[in-house]
Amino acid sequence: MAQHTTLGVGGRIGLYVEPATVDGMIEAVRALGSAGLGYRVLGGGSNILVPDGELPFAVLSPARLTRVTRDGERLTAWAGASFPGFVRGAREAGLAGVSGLIGIPGQVGGAVRMNAGGKYGWFWDVIESAEVITRAGETRTITKAEAQPKYRDGNLGDAIVLAANVVLTPGKRDELYAHEQQVLREKHSSQPLTQRSAGCIFKNPPGPKSAGRLIEESGMKGKAVGAARVSERHGNFIVNEGGASYAQVLELIAWTRNTVHERCGVELELEVDVWRST
Ligand code: EPU
Repeated sequence: MAQHTTLGVGGRIGLYVEPATVDGMIEAVRALGSAGLGYRVLGGGSNILVPDGELPFAVLSPARLTRVTRDGERLTAWAGASFPGFVRGAREAGLAGVSGLIGIPGQVGGAVRMNAGGKYGWFWDVIESAEVITRAGETRTITKAEAQPKYRDGNLGDAIVLAANVVLTPGKRDELYAHEQQVLREKHSSQPLTQRSAGCIFKNPPGPKSAGRLIEESGMKGKAVGAARVSERHGNFIVNEGGASYAQVLELIAWTRNTVHERCGVELELEVDVWRST
């Protein structure tokens, strides 16, 4: 699994399922369910922390379902489509609404599930509905009004995302490109983008100070457990300096959270999805 995550941490799984078609995906969900096999759904692996060792679950990936179709200002993107590719594709099609989401890694499915976003908006701002498969293997369309997505949470429970139906507006390609370049410049100046990480570890808490700011003020920047280090560049990133273990990352997360609580009185909530081995 280390190869499937941007942090580069994770052990071995016994079964990896990557269906080539939507029907195959539905069939896989039904088969895994009726076999009683525990499984996790993998997106781009850019927002997860996976345990080491022999893992007692299977992994289902929509990585081969990469199609994006267009009908005027509407786009339907399947879960395995690259999220950065989707953003660039919208710009090339002269469609505005997602250029501020450039620089977010991963796949469309994960971005729907997590309501990926940042300073310039969230994915669900432009999503009209999501196509999902329930764990029982039934397909459903969930509208934005039904889902009521929140900050960093598409609010879809344990449903598996199949596709996003997105509505954009006409835009000028060169203006969209210029906006993307500005967002990327900002990210490069404030985030450790050349190092292995899982992006922001904690959600920003309510209140005036971001998680990164609180971590910096609590003196945790640069602190390390083994090869896992709190980034010097951005306090809310933990970087893997080479061979970091799950236990090291978890210990550093707990140390950071406790220190911020003691020194700033704020309880930070995890943003990264920590997979447990049970
Ligand atoms: N700051 C510090 N020290 C730090 C980091 C940040 O003082 O080490 C300060 C900054 O100077 C700024 C404020 O905290 O005044 C906010 O920082 P920044 O602009 O870097 O944004 P953020 O709130 O830390 C959010 C998202 C990011 C997203 C950026 C840009 C969350 C948890 N994080 O970061 O998302 O890329 O905005 O849009 O909402 C992610 O989800 O993985 C992620 C990186």
